[in-house]
Amino acid sequence: MQSRLTDEFAVIADIHGNIDALDAVLADISARGIQTILNLGDHLSGPLEAARTADRLMAAGIACIRGNHDRQLLDRLPGAMGLSDASAYAQLTPAHLRWLGALPATLEPMEGVFAFHGTPQSDTTYLMEQVDAQGRVSMRSRAQIEAALQGCTAQLYLCGHTHVPRRIDLGQGRVVLNPGSVGCPAYSDVQPVPHVMQTGTACACYATLGRHAGGWHTSFHHIPYDTGAMVARAKAAGREDWAQALAHGTLT
Ligand SMILES: [Fe+2]
Repeated sequence: MQSRLTDEFAVIADIHGNIDALDAVLADISARGIQTILNLGDHLSGPLEAARTADRLMAAGIACIRGNHDRQLLDRLPGAMGLSDASAYAQLTPAHLRWLGALPATLEPMEGVFAFHGTPQSDTTYLMEQVDAQGRVSMRSRAQIEAALQGCTAQLYLCGHTHVPRRIDLGQGRVVLNPGSVGCPAYSDVQPVPHVMQTGTACACYATLGRHAGGWHTSFHHIPYDTGAMVARAKAAGREDWAQALAHGTLT
């Protein structure tokens, strides 16, 4: 039997106000007997259930970091927000905003582990993916990822932001992992050029990890849940794009 150096823990990210997906994931984590959860940001933005999601996360005491869409709920006036951020902001109380404002941008939850939303320096930059001038998305080379992590000495790097579950091994046992998105399996963005990120599944996604003598053991979990209420919420807000993404995990 291989020795386990740390207990297994769960990593979640990019909930985007999808309370039903979050509850499905939290139930699955609990059923596995996992106590420790790390949440990599973008908790609330979108036309779904921002306030209920904030209440759930605050009550659960889950370690959270701040994503770009969490920061954008704090650093600009509602009139300057995008549609998804403005939808979430309209639901939030001062207590929710205080909670968001206290979250760190990066976290070292245990020795050798470094967590952030995009890259260590930026909550809006993709770490493992790149977008070309035509909007085509591809995986970055290991050299590019190493360059983005220059000066960092962790063995395990945890990021969110792209909503795409992925593990890349950098060598010398160093691992980069994105657990995928709990609540938003596809989206379009106009930065740096218009492009679409999509997973092809409506499932809520997260990862579990454990450090063993031979390296990091990681598992990705895709949890089916009833998307009906969240799809209806998106449609009621006039967000057909969100409704399609939630129902199918695709936008094209
Ligand atoms: Fe996100």
